[in-house]
Amino acid sequence: MTDLSAPVIAVDGPGGSGKGTITQMLARHLGWHLLDSGALYRLTALAAARQGVKLDDEEALARVARGLDASFEPTAPGEPVRVLLGGEDVTRDIRTESCGDQASRVAVIQSVRDALLQRQRDFQKAPGLVADGRDMGTVVFPDAQTKVFLTASAAERAERRYRQLKDAGVGVNIDALLNEIRARDERDMNRSAAPLKPAEDAQVIDSTGLSIEEVLERVLAAAGRV
Ligand code: DC
Repeated sequence: MTDLSAPVIAVDGPGGSGKGTITQMLARHLGWHLLDSGALYRLTALAAARQGVKLDDEEALARVARGLDASFEPTAPGEPVRVLLGGEDVTRDIRTESCGDQASRVAVIQSVRDALLQRQRDFQKAPGLVADGRDMGTVVFPDAQTKVFLTASAAERAERRYRQLKDAGVGVNIDALLNEIRARDERDMNRSAAPLKPAEDAQVIDSTGLSIEEVLERVLAAAGRV
């Protein structure tokens, strides 16, 4: 059951800033719930593609978002949460570059964002919630006790993504990755609906040159939990 008194740590920032890894570690460390809001936009894009809905059909996309049959299942420590769409495991399908690109296009549509708003707020449960996204501190949980805006240079984010994909056996070109990251930043920051920006009361943490452990330490300190 939603519990509006449960504490929320909102972690926002651009793709590749380390948010996904940090929020998973943080939720496990605290024993709190985790909301990966980006997964909801990715699932909307995937469900739309599977239903043959075009990315410019705003009404149909909002309908897809409203009717999304999504669930998240916990897995072993260190492994990503299992993401299900209509009962089918789509954990890998939603992580492709093309799904990310489509998600970022779907995410500019206000009616899609409205359709996903309450679903995200329903994650606020005791003992607490770690919320990962672009507008957690600004729109979805404006009253969050802790707001962190995690960033890193575009070059470092491209480098991290390159290593991740290389480890997964996917061959990619780093310049192409950097261009994609810049294009997605541009779209996420300049859209009129809930643009990516730090909340006024957010603590900005630049993770360029920091290890995951160092970033986690800083986020815990920001939340007053060290
Ligand atoms: O964090 P991610 O890469 O999984 O997010 C995919 C896309 O979804 C991203 O380009 C922007 C969008 N998004 C959003 O608009 N608002 C959120 N709270 C989370 C993601």
